[in-house]
Amino acid sequence: MRILVLGSGAREHAIVTALLREQAGHDITVAPGNGGIAADVPVIALDPTNPTLVTEFALDNDIELVVIGPEAPLVAGVADKLRQRGIAVFGPGKAAAALEGSKTFAKRIMDEAGVPTGRAVRAATLEEAVVAIDEFGAPYVVKADGLAAGKGVLVTADREAAMAHASYWLSQGSVLVEEFLEGQEVSLFLLSDGHTVLPLSPAQDYKRLADDDEGPNTGGMGAYSPLPWLPSGFVDEVIDTVALPTVRQLAEEQAPFIGLLYCGLILTDKGIRVIEFNARFGDPETQVVLPRLVTPLSGLLFAAATGELGGQPRPEFSDDVAVTVVLASEGYPDTPVTGREIVGLDTALAIHGVSVAHAATAVSAGRLIATGGRVLSVVATAPDFTEARSRVYRALEAIDLEGGQFRTDIAARVAL
Ligand code: AMP
Ligand code: GLY
Repeated sequence: MRILVLGSGAREHAIVTALLREQAGHDITVAPGNGGIAADVPVIALDPTNPTLVTEFALDNDIELVVIGPEAPLVAGVADKLRQRGIAVFGPGKAAAALEGSKTFAKRIMDEAGVPTGRAVRAATLEEAVVAIDEFGAPYVVKADGLAAGKGVLVTADREAAMAHASYWLSQGSVLVEEFLEGQEVSLFLLSDGHTVLPLSPAQDYKRLADDDEGPNTGGMGAYSPLPWLPSGFVDEVIDTVALPTVRQLAEEQAPFIGLLYCGLILTDKGIRVIEFNARFGDPETQVVLPRLVTPLSGLLFAAATGELGGQPRPEFSDDVAVTVVLASEGYPDTPVTGREIVGLDTALAIHGVSVAHAATAVSAGRLIATGGRVLSVVATAPDFTEARSRVYRALEAIDLEGGQFRTDIAARVAL
């Protein structure tokens, strides 16, 4: 199949790796990609958020499937334009992508569909925010309403900090003040063709920068899959109470969700609650979910894109487990230092079960250079979590990036 993948992160590298693993001889192009992706498949310098440019490229190159990685092209309406021209695309249109792009929209959809989520109040002024902050009490949860690149959510016991966060994001738009939910977090990805959903294997993401969940929220510092501690029936319950009602509600509102419904969930003692939806594969969870996928990815994405998921069996996963640890630049997430050389990848890749998804790299004068905050996603698969952790951390020891930071406790709690 001739496939165009949009995006430039480790998630897109993991998608490309899964497509290449099929050995179906897919013809894959990535726009714009990164240094690591470019070593595997052709990349083109094309703005993935420009609907016209992407559609022209797809038409000129007889692309049979476009896979949209990040949220920005979705919110920019790239999928709509491609669909108008009859091109199969995995990724929702602008209207359904608002599930991620607007927390107010997501809350309304959940309300209408009866999906369990935390109580929340939308505030347009600081006065409204303060009333809500005091009504809910500590710990305080304050969220930017629009896309905020992982920086929009603050969970804090400090009332002043909650108000400062509200004040900052109110200057960009509105905020949501939410009830604090306590419990284990789960990321569950579901493929959707607008009507039917098929679940992938659950994963857990580590959002805080430092060990023991200290430090600021980030885009994600590591992940593992599967989650051996999940109650049986969990996935079916999410399908019945969260995913299908949401997809049906969107279909009813003429905003069909065709793509990846990312359910960010908390398992509270009162049951499952949605903390967020995303309209795309999660990063870094994709780096641990796709290496375990046995069913060919291209067939699943194409079936979703063409409304053919109904009647398909659930995707199959290997019994192996997967752990990923993100290597980030010094100064991430606030002011990442870029331009530093990365060495030792060959030694890391020689370790059995280890692969590396590139997030922000480029090749300059024959050297691999870090170009952003999250630089690499080092992945290990193994029969159990103890071995997977041993492999992934040996690989990280072999990789040298001056000032590089990574968490040392990814999947520690399941590797006992
Ligand atoms: P989000 O960007 O909505 O996923 O939020 C980022 C992180 O903030 C989540 O992964 C949670 O760890 C935390 N969080 C978000 N909403 C809540 C909530 N209502 N209660 C507790 N923690 C939350
Ligand atoms: N891992 C969190 C996200 O992709 O939004």
